[in-house]
Amino acid sequence: MKIKTTPFLLAGLLFAAGLSSQADAAPVFHLQVDLTATGKPISPDLFGIFFEDLNYAADGGLYGELIQNRSFESNATEQRDWNEFTGWATATRGGAEGNVAVRSAKPIHPNNPHYISIEVKTAVGAVGVTNSGYDGIPLQAKEGYELSFFAHQLFMDEAWGENNDIVGRPMPVTVRLESENGDLLAEASDFVVGRDWVRHGVRLVPNRTEAKARVVVLANAKGGIALDEISLIPEHTFRNRKNGVRADLAQTIADLKPKFIRFPGGCLSHGDGLSNFYRWKDTVGPVEQRRGQRNLWGYHQSVGLGYFEYFQFCEDIGAKPLPVLPAGVSCQFSDYSPGHGQQCLPLEAMPGYIQDVLDLIEWANGPATSQWGSVRARAGHPEPFGLKYIGVGNEDGITPGFEERFKMIQDAIRAHHPEIVVIGTVGAAPDGPEFDRGWTFARSLGVALVDEHYYRSPQWFWENLHRYDNYDRNGPKVYAGEYAAHEKDRRNTLRSALAEAAGCIGFERNGDIVSLASYAPLLSRRGHTQWTPDMIYFNATEVYPSINYQVQRLFCTNSGDSLLTAKVDGMQSSDRVAWSAVRDSASGDVIVKIVNGEDRTFTASVDLGSAPAGQRRLIATVLTGANADVANEDGKPPAAKPVIDQSTVSATFERILPANSLTVLRLAKF
Ligand code: AHR
Repeated sequence: MKIKTTPFLLAGLLFAAGLSSQADAAPVFHLQVDLTATGKPISPDLFGIFFEDLNYAADGGLYGELIQNRSFESNATEQRDWNEFTGWATATRGGAEGNVAVRSAKPIHPNNPHYISIEVKTAVGAVGVTNSGYDGIPLQAKEGYELSFFAHQLFMDEAWGENNDIVGRPMPVTVRLESENGDLLAEASDFVVGRDWVRHGVRLVPNRTEAKARVVVLANAKGGIALDEISLIPEHTFRNRKNGVRADLAQTIADLKPKFIRFPGGCLSHGDGLSNFYRWKDTVGPVEQRRGQRNLWGYHQSVGLGYFEYFQFCEDIGAKPLPVLPAGVSCQFSDYSPGHGQQCLPLEAMPGYIQDVLDLIEWANGPATSQWGSVRARAGHPEPFGLKYIGVGNEDGITPGFEERFKMIQDAIRAHHPEIVVIGTVGAAPDGPEFDRGWTFARSLGVALVDEHYYRSPQWFWENLHRYDNYDRNGPKVYAGEYAAHEKDRRNTLRSALAEAAGCIGFERNGDIVSLASYAPLLSRRGHTQWTPDMIYFNATEVYPSINYQVQRLFCTNSGDSLLTAKVDGMQSSDRVAWSAVRDSASGDVIVKIVNGEDRTFTASVDLGSAPAGQRRLIATVLTGANADVANEDGKPPAAKPVIDQSTVSATFERILPANSLTVLRLAKF
């Protein structure tokens, strides 16, 4: 191996970094960055995130709702032992007799067909229901929580049909927050009156912090009521939005500073059979009128976190929304619905479906006076959201049925909204016949961008470092829409994170053709995980960003808009070392990133050649640690965190690159 030795004295720097002993023998590679040329443009939206309601990412995760199955719509198609009452239990207090039943005769809205009745048959005591949320409801002392429910009275004709002396008498109802063993944490009362559904809401403030609380709703007098949409949401959501998202998780995502958010999936977008498409219109408007459905990952999706909330969250964190809509076909991997596999919407249903797609654009971008813009405005957002990208399809099988429908949708968007960038799909794998068919088809239609997916070994990522170097610059651009380096045991490791970092270097170096990239999946609730590895793990009260998160954060927050020419020598081509040098024109900073995937230390001799003489500020961030470091399903928070040091350097300087590390060198204002 040909290695150049450094002519520089590193002792001071190395001592400061605590690395002097390793560095003595560290081979050197020279990185010469040319600051004179303009550089190759890098997509301004390159690094974003992929959100899918998988691993309880939405319900039980990012969505602020603390009650599970608030609208009594769970059922056995989601999990075999589930039914409409899943998550709930009956409560009888003070010697009362009565019963609780699931009903569907007179729902709040046809999209929300089930509710419950509570009948109290005795003059003493109370009958009601309790819900412990997802693994117990976490409550914070002195914080406000909005408890709300819809209710009406049940009268003789609808209830138990015998001598009913309660007609016309309001039903006193108590709502309580209780600890697991029944201690009262907060309480309020109200009356339910009349035959029509009425929303009741109250602010509750628990008198102590409780990790596993429950909500109790009690009917306190002889008679009956109907109840639905029983909800408990903290006032303190992210940006204190009503029906908002969980603040700590949202902040962890916001800290990534992603340029876009793709949602709602993944496979969830095109669903398990035609009736399981994620239909955006079912997810906007008043929450009690939305149509929840089976989540193909094996639980219920309430769609309380629906399109309005996704768009709002994007806006709140400065990310562009990237909704992915079905291409008129369902997921080819689905195995639940009759017929199995990819199913195509009948052609006669396509005009209506295409109208839904066009309506989404009007909903997002149209004036508040337009038909769908007014729905957005009524939800509290009169200004347009500024939708630019729409994904059509998700790793679909490239069949004639898919091709025909994709073309119809793209033609309609082009005709009515040429300003929208349509993202196509090239199957589930990064190579092979389907991938090739997908690319041929996308080229033939002149699709703007195609969505490539790869869940592959860390080694594959290193082998594909130059994957995009020779992509045709005149064809569709690339959205690396789902990627992650998978270890055999599918745990989050430093090695996988560094392989992904190498992948990100490849994206930056080809930022003229790779326009967008997002690691997948984003979130996973411990104890409710269907897919690993993920970027961020959490439970009811804590958030555990993985080491892979740290890599994504470093790339998102150190992106540039032009790639500088950099020349390297002193390494072998087989060395797992990857680098990029970019300029961020907004700050004027030059950012050099180097991934050392080898088990040995290197010294980087960085030469900014033509840079004006003098000292400049260097912020260096190093991510390294033990390879077994995980933040996984059963793991602990990772010990490895990026370590930052600041110094002043001249145009030529040296840095130690620890074994198995990512180093980001941010040089102020060139
Ligand atoms: O990210 C998890 C799943 O992987 C996505 O839903 C799907 O698109 C891919 O196969």
